[in-house]
Formats: sequence, C-alpha cells, structure tokens
Amino acid sequence: MKGLILSGGKGTRLRPLTYTSAKQLVPVANKPVLFYGIEALAGAGIRDIGIVVQQPTIELGDTRSEIVAAVGDGSKWGVRVEYIDQDAPRGIAHAVQISEPFIDGGPFVVYLGDNLLTKSIVPFVAEFERLRPAAQILLARVPDPQRFGVAELQDGRVVRLEEKPREPKSDLALVGVYLFGPEIFESVKRIKPSRRDELEITDAIQDLIDRGLPVRPHIVEGWWKDTGKLEDMLEANRIVLETIQPRIDGDVDDASRVEGRVVIEAGARVERSVVRGPVIIGARARIVRSYIGPFTSIMNDVEIRESELEHSIVLEGSVITDIATRIEDSLIGKHVRIYREPVKPSAYRFVLGDKSEVGIRW
Ligand code: TTP
Repeated sequence: MKGLILSGGKGTRLRPLTYTSAKQLVPVANKPVLFYGIEALAGAGIRDIGIVVQQPTIELGDTRSEIVAAVGDGSKWGVRVEYIDQDAPRGIAHAVQISEPFIDGGPFVVYLGDNLLTKSIVPFVAEFERLRPAAQILLARVPDPQRFGVAELQDGRVVRLEEKPREPKSDLALVGVYLFGPEIFESVKRIKPSRRDELEITDAIQDLIDRGLPVRPHIVEGWWKDTGKLEDMLEANRIVLETIQPRIDGDVDDASRVEGRVVIEAGARVERSVVRGPVIIGARARIVRSYIGPFTSIMNDVEIRESELEHSIVLEGSVITDIATRIEDSLIGKHVRIYREPVKPSAYRFVLGDKSEVGIRW
C-alpha cells in the first residue's frame, strides 16, 4: 500500500505565517506537523509516500522547497518520498487525481498534512485490507459537526456525506485520513468543482456511494486535530506537550526553577527564570529573567529576556525582550523581534506583515 500526504493548499486561515512558510511545517511540540503524518504512515508499514506540494506562485510563495528541504528523500523515517506538484490548490480530490501515476493501481492512504492524530492508524489500515471496500473513511465524534464534513451511516456503511451541514444527521466528522482503492480515480473524474471552485473529496466519496460501491466508516476514539488555524494549532501543541518525556540536556542555572514536564534541548540555557511545564525549549535558546508558563513551545535559537510567556508557540530565531505584560495564546513566526523601546516618546512602533494580528491590552 502507498501513502499520499497533502502538503499544498492555500493556508488562508493561518496567515500571515503561510505567506512565507508551509503550515504543515509549523511545529507542534517543536516537531513539524507534517512529520507526525510521515511517522503515522511509516508506523503502518507504508514505505512509498507521495507528498503533494504546491508549485511556487507569487501569491502562495514557495512552500515546496521548504518541504523538500525538511523531508528530503524520506530516509530519516525509512521510507521513500516522491514529490507530486500541484499547479494550484484545486482541492483534495484534485490532489488525488494528479497522483494517479504515482499510486499506479493499488490501494492507498490519503493523509492531510496539517492533521494530527494521537492514535495509530494501524487498525484502520488493517480493517481496510481485510474488507477491501472501495473506500474507508476515518470519523470522529465532535460536539460541533456543522463545522465539518459529516457522515450518515446505515448498517455499517456510509450512505451520505455532507459538507458543513446546517442540520447534521450525525455527530461523526470526517478526519483527514482516508483509504481508497483505485475506484476513487473514476469518481474524481466524474465530479465537478464546488462553489469554492475545488474538487471536493466528499463529492468523490459520495460518487462512490452513488455508484453502489462500499464505503466503510471507521470511528477513531483518540484525539485528532486539523491544525489549519491558530486555536487548533495551540490546542494540538497543548495535547502533545502533555505527553512529552521530561529531559534536560541544556543548562539551567541555580537561580532558576524548572517544574513539571519540561524538555530543554542541548545548548539551550535558562538563567534566573521560572519554567513551568509542560514546556519544550529548543536547542540554543536563551531564557533570561523570564517566566515560561504551561503549554509553551519555544523553538531553536529563540531568545527571551525579562518577559513572560504562556500557552504559545515561538518559532526559531525570534527575540522577545522586556515585555512587561504576559504574552499568551500566541503564535510567533520565525525571526520576529518584540521589544520595548527605551526612548521617548513612548509609543507603539510596528513593522507587521500583511494580515498580522496584534492584541494590545486595553
Ligand atoms: P485545507 O486546510 O482544507 O485547505 P487549505 O490549505 O487551502 O487551507 P485554508 O482553508 O486555510 O485556506 O487542506 C487540507 C490539507 O490538504 C492541507 O495540508 C493542505 C492540503 N491541500 C493540498 O495539498 N492541495 C489542495 O488543493 C488543497 C485544497 C489542500
């Protein structure tokens, strides 16, 4: 069985980060979201993985080379990775369609590159191989099905899929992992673009059902998240941080206190600070006279001085100094500088990219 990971897309919900970077490379507990997907496929014994990437454009930037640089040929995970270029984000079913030559006839897994699951996909794959339906979809019970693709079941089969229904027929939302036999390629050819001008995977699966082919549900009990927007990214970070194994490979001076589940990578240094886990601090980061509170991930080469930070993700190379008010619920990009100006007049001075967001205390 082959694997397909979708790592293109527009990423509008995670702007401005996605203007310059792939959302699938935003780290959760200091590891890119995409790597969790590769590990999940490798863990299910899948050795051949196609990664769908976005061809560089002025509007969407070049996330392709960043992904290629991070993943390489897949040997880090013991898998073979091939890249499949999508000319524009024309939908998940379109990404499947252009991958037909790579799939080359057999069954395959589709894994959305910004999705995160805490449970293994091994039982899901095993069930599919045993029963060999045309498709098997992963479903999770959610409190707010209106926000998702929702499945209606009858006698152990999926009979209908609805995208963001106003009156959902069940609380079973589609998780971003699908298993298909080659029948899906015919369905993808038969469907038309949706109102948002994308080839929707729900329409392709509905077409399998309409052709009388078996589509089976598999309900996932563990937690899963689509990390496509800020709150979900922070929640994913929270859940994963709660499971990390504490380890201190960096330096912590005697004037500092480190409490709870904390990872401090080699070369990082914590001075006169309080770190209250779950927290991960990346290699060569410097934390000086600061407070790092629960559910915070600090990437490599970040510097935090005389500041307080909690429930946030800070990407590599950023510097935060002398910020009197605690920073919370924040996603801070790479090489960002947040500091206090010592000179008068005391005013805010910003250099913010398009669609940045800054919340100032009133
Ligand atoms: P989405 O998050 O549904 O779409 P998006 O990336 O365009 O994001 P937004 O809604 O914020 O604009 O996509 C799910 C995953 O599939 C994600 O990893 C991106 C990937 N994808 C592709 O590779 N090609 C596509 O054409 C689309 C639509 C998504």
